Amino acid sequence: MSDERKVMKVLGGESVFPPPIWLMRQAGRYLPEYREVRKKAGGFLDLCYTPKLAMEVTLQPIRRYGFDAAILFSDILVIPDALKRDVRFEEGRGPLMAPIDAAGIARLDGKNMLNHLEPVMETVSLLRGTLPTETTLLGFCGAPWTVATYMIAGHGTPDQAPARLFAYREPEAFDALLQLLADLSADYLCAQIEAGADAVQIFDSWAGVLGETEFERYSIGPTRSIIEQVKKRHPKARIIAFAKGAGTLLSTYREKVGADAIGLDWSVPLDFGRTLQQQGAVQGNLDPMRVVAGGKALDEGVDAILDKLGGGPLIFNLGHGITPQADPEHVTQLVNRVRTASQ
Ligand code: CP3
Repeated sequence: MSDERKVMKVLGGESVFPPPIWLMRQAGRYLPEYREVRKKAGGFLDLCYTPKLAMEVTLQPIRRYGFDAAILFSDILVIPDALKRDVRFEEGRGPLMAPIDAAGIARLDGKNMLNHLEPVMETVSLLRGTLPTETTLLGFCGAPWTVATYMIAGHGTPDQAPARLFAYREPEAFDALLQLLADLSADYLCAQIEAGADAVQIFDSWAGVLGETEFERYSIGPTRSIIEQVKKRHPKARIIAFAKGAGTLLSTYREKVGADAIGLDWSVPLDFGRTLQQQGAVQGNLDPMRVVAGGKALDEGVDAILDKLGGGPLIFNLGHGITPQADPEHVTQLVNRVRTASQ
């Protein structure tokens, strides 16, 4: 492997073939070694806040597959946790927290956030000191809309109806919540960059439930605000923005958020992905179910992406996180397929 940071090259707008590869949620329950550490750690947040363990699970997929990027092991919900929203992760139920209302939003106080998240920054700096130089270290945060959906409902929902409804009924309180989350997320990403993250990703996993007007206001606006603030303080910072389910709205998203790369989920047609790639790097977009299926379905999915997007700036990834039922051997197959591809 060359000692150049391929992910950074692509984020700078260069085309690299075969493209660099990493997978969203690459540290996780599909790996037996992750499940081992997870058992030892106690709660999920304890794992996020124990730098040695968080570093260990971040490195696991790098050791196994030699991915071109490592993503910090943490969660987007550490920000509500730092805001004292009583965040818990229960087996089989996903994240839970105290649902917030307009009065609760007015009382939120982010002053202690960076203090609370100091162990995460320690993990970043341990990682940067340990990872090979050619491996890009990615930090991340959730986009304000996606984080707010969990804060309003108090748990995951299939369509984020509680947050959509709250936004219509209490637009001012909702705007205040998103602005606070944008400011705190910018501070948090800057702290990660200062601790050693080479680039960062903003996850808007629930962008796809928003109508056109709401997408502009709740996804594009706050994401642009984060990126502006980070780039003002760190002009060379590289940022990937991922708005899952945004469909054709990705054109305006690309134009307006100011990210160096945009993530594509697996529903984005590859020809449209190619159009988006004309304005800059893209990342994606294999269906995670192809990794579960393996075999021909996996090979064909990889080949189609390389065929359509391999000629431009591409970071190969899934269209969303890898799922716990994926076979680790299938990930080996995926990485080999990408790395041995010819143009
Ligand atoms: O490997 C990596 O990508 C780094 C770590 C990472 C996690 N969560 C670890 C995690 C990252 C980048 C995230 C982001 C995240 N967290 C998002 C955005 C990306 C996406 O997947 O949509 C969201 C929406 C969350 C919130 C969250 N955290 C949910 C809804 C859940 C429960 C669902 C589930 O998969 O169990 C989590 C828990 C979580 N975060 C796990 C992991 C490995 C599983 C919990 C466990 O190990 O017990």
